[in-house]
Amino acid sequence: MSYLLGIDIGTSSTKTVLFNVAGEVITSAADFYPMEQPKNGWAEQDPGDWWNAAATTIREVVAKAGINPKDIKGIGLSGQMHGLVMLGKDNKPVRKSIIWCDQRTALECEQITSLVGADKLIEITANPALTGFTASKIMWVKNNQPEIYDKCRKILLPKDYIRFKLTGEFATEVSDASGMQLLDVPKRQWSNYVLEKLDINQDLLGRLYESVEVTGTVTKEAAEACGLCEGIPVVGGAGDQAASAIGNGIVKEGVISATIGTSGVVFAHLDKPAIDKLGRAHTFCHAVPGAWHVMGVTQSAGLSYKWFRDNFMTSEKFTAEQLNTDPNILIDKIAGSVPAGSNGLIYLPYLMGERTPHLDADCRGVFFGLSGMHEKKDLLRAVMEGVVFSMNDCLGIIREMGTSPNYIYAAGGGANSPLWRQMMADIMQTEIAVNNSSESGALGVAILAGVGSGVYKDVVSACSNIIKRRDSQICSDKNKNLYEEMYKIYMNLYKSLKKDFASLAKINQKFFV
Ligand code: XUL
Repeated sequence: MSYLLGIDIGTSSTKTVLFNVAGEVITSAADFYPMEQPKNGWAEQDPGDWWNAAATTIREVVAKAGINPKDIKGIGLSGQMHGLVMLGKDNKPVRKSIIWCDQRTALECEQITSLVGADKLIEITANPALTGFTASKIMWVKNNQPEIYDKCRKILLPKDYIRFKLTGEFATEVSDASGMQLLDVPKRQWSNYVLEKLDINQDLLGRLYESVEVTGTVTKEAAEACGLCEGIPVVGGAGDQAASAIGNGIVKEGVISATIGTSGVVFAHLDKPAIDKLGRAHTFCHAVPGAWHVMGVTQSAGLSYKWFRDNFMTSEKFTAEQLNTDPNILIDKIAGSVPAGSNGLIYLPYLMGERTPHLDADCRGVFFGLSGMHEKKDLLRAVMEGVVFSMNDCLGIIREMGTSPNYIYAAGGGANSPLWRQMMADIMQTEIAVNNSSESGALGVAILAGVGSGVYKDVVSACSNIIKRRDSQICSDKNKNLYEEMYKIYMNLYKSLKKDFASLAKINQKFFV
């Protein structure tokens, strides 16, 4: 029997899944870690936590499956994108990783735009300078912690740090590298022009591969740490969004997915790079060789839900634990007991600023329309609806750019909730389908590993053999008009509050950490 291993270095946990070559889950394991927020809008993680979680979960899935690790034909890595990992000369991190949702780099974005030039930046990197992207995080360390920058010998993305720990190789691949803003996205190679303008030495970066290429093999030391065997090939893999798209079969034009993970992403495949001139959606290299994709990103999707659940629903979580039930199922039931529209309450999910469509690091979360009659459950439902309103903004831009799907695949942890999927169908006014792949990120990179190790011929045919549509929900006439009206107010609220968000950000800087 042959197997493929997919490892997904997420924001809240690392999930490792062992698949057979039919793409069926054999065993899986997850290990959780914290996200630190040392200041309002900052977000950091310890790369050591990712490696511990990866090693623990790999050991666990191999042991649970009771297989000979020699039968693992390839390993694929997926992970949260954009995070900055800096290694010193001993190959140890010189500081914590500044991760994707960190918003501290507004000044560095201005600096990058003026050094490279706004038009040139979009022409080469296919995107405007964004606080989420890695280049601005590198510039922040250069500007604010020069003594740390001087110690840095290698710059890696989160999943590429795990690659280094597994194989000893410093490497990345085009889909994740696109989110660094140092890549010539149309040409699929590092941009000497941008690197020179930002004075970043290319030797700091990993070697660049296509996502299906083998980047190295598991070392003896890593094999011992993870319960693997030496020599298993590790392919490029993909950033979490491209990985999840592969795992949902988003490998040809006209097919779209909407993923609710920590972030929320609406994703469309492109045969050729196409750029939103206003920079509201990101154009990146896809993990399918020779293809690109466009995606709109809601910064705090699952993050909003987790924030609400962990701060205000601890007793429900406790009850679920006592009943041996998944707390999310219980919480879903509570949200489902509230009528659509949350009794007139609207939530803006801008806990960590917003990317699509506002590109605003300063905006923050809002409950609008609070009344004395509202209860916790109304706020909960409003949080879920607000996330979908924001993802509907993303879909609008993808439609404007020319992809108008008949249906959308829901993915990520949020897609496990039939209630959230129905909100998507009602607010996006499109049929929402789900696939047989519940672990789409890990499956996506396991497929890439299968292509790289010769188990499958290519990504597209592997996807069409493995991924099948399982279920779908359609927009309900009952909720359509209500949501249409509430979405209009949702859109207006940002415009009304934009200036106040900026003023509040100044107060935060002056008076609070
Ligand atoms: C994509 C993005 C997020 C993170 C975390 O641009 O920032 O999807 O990868 O999931």
